[in-house]
Amino acid sequence: MELINRPRRLRQNDAIRRLCRETRLSPDSLIYPIFVDETLKGWRPIPALAGQFHYGLDAVDQAVEACLDAGVGRCILFGLPARKDAQGSPAWDPSGVVQEAVRAIKAKYPDFYVITDVCMCEYTDHGHCGILKGREVDNDATLEVLAKTALSHAGAGADMVAPSDMMDGRIAAIRSALDRHGLQNVPILSYSAKYASAFYGPFREAAGSAPAFGDRRGYQMDPHNRREALKECALDVEEGADILMVKPALSYLDVIRACADAFDLPLCAYSVSGEYAMIKAAGAAGLIDEYRVMCESALSVYRAGADMLITYFAKELAQAMRKGDIG
Ligand code: PBG
Repeated sequence: MELINRPRRLRQNDAIRRLCRETRLSPDSLIYPIFVDETLKGWRPIPALAGQFHYGLDAVDQAVEACLDAGVGRCILFGLPARKDAQGSPAWDPSGVVQEAVRAIKAKYPDFYVITDVCMCEYTDHGHCGILKGREVDNDATLEVLAKTALSHAGAGADMVAPSDMMDGRIAAIRSALDRHGLQNVPILSYSAKYASAFYGPFREAAGSAPAFGDRRGYQMDPHNRREALKECALDVEEGADILMVKPALSYLDVIRACADAFDLPLCAYSVSGEYAMIKAAGAAGLIDEYRVMCESALSVYRAGADMLITYFAKELAQAMRKGDIG
């Protein structure tokens, strides 16, 4: 058969397939979520997230050690405070759970890169991401507490802050608070296009942050919209964000591609708890090859245009990249 074009020539063996990969991945692009519980000593499995743990302040260094062993050098911290109130004041307590976790990690591993999630939902007794006025989250009142929270994280030594609340104007508010306090060099990773997603279910159980009434559709984005993600990103760029984010990842690959094409900033994707839990559950049930589905899913997020990925599979993916199974 006379065939000039035979795409299979480039697929014949591993050596040539690896040579021709269009998407190159590195463990440097992975960020691992760590949950720190102020009331806990040691660590305890998170039932909603098979294979993930809550860590006490006395044990958070072990979470970091496991990351370093696997070749992951970056984390994002989530806190479970001992008490909550209507304003979410434990979020900006200078000796709050995240602030202390940052100090504990930095004291032992100064080079481990620590990002903190900045939001009120884990700290308010009503579980919403800001200060309530009636049954609504008051945008402008919330900006002030978000800025205070980000400032206290950076003050404790966080390398980067990542606001996930979806209030309007929060990047500008946080940037200005950091700058006024001499923290001009602390970058902001903005959860720019964060959708009101059912995929956050296991996280809310893990972080104890489900809203006591209503839902988050009044501030997180409507999953029907793609153009709106571009608007959110554009506002964040104007307000001084350093890195943009799309969240969740797998059901929003089109949004990741659109944002990657439209903006010059680095783009992060968050492969959220529900994405992880589904792969773990299907793997445990023997329905899929968990390892290969993990690899293929992560790969698709990078192929869509993400430069970096927050994932509960960060340690396993770093190993997979090292082995060359992806990357
Ligand atoms: C805090 C926050 C959430 C997630 C990250 N930061 C939960 C939410 O918005 O309800 C979700 C992460 C995940 O599902 O893995 N606002």
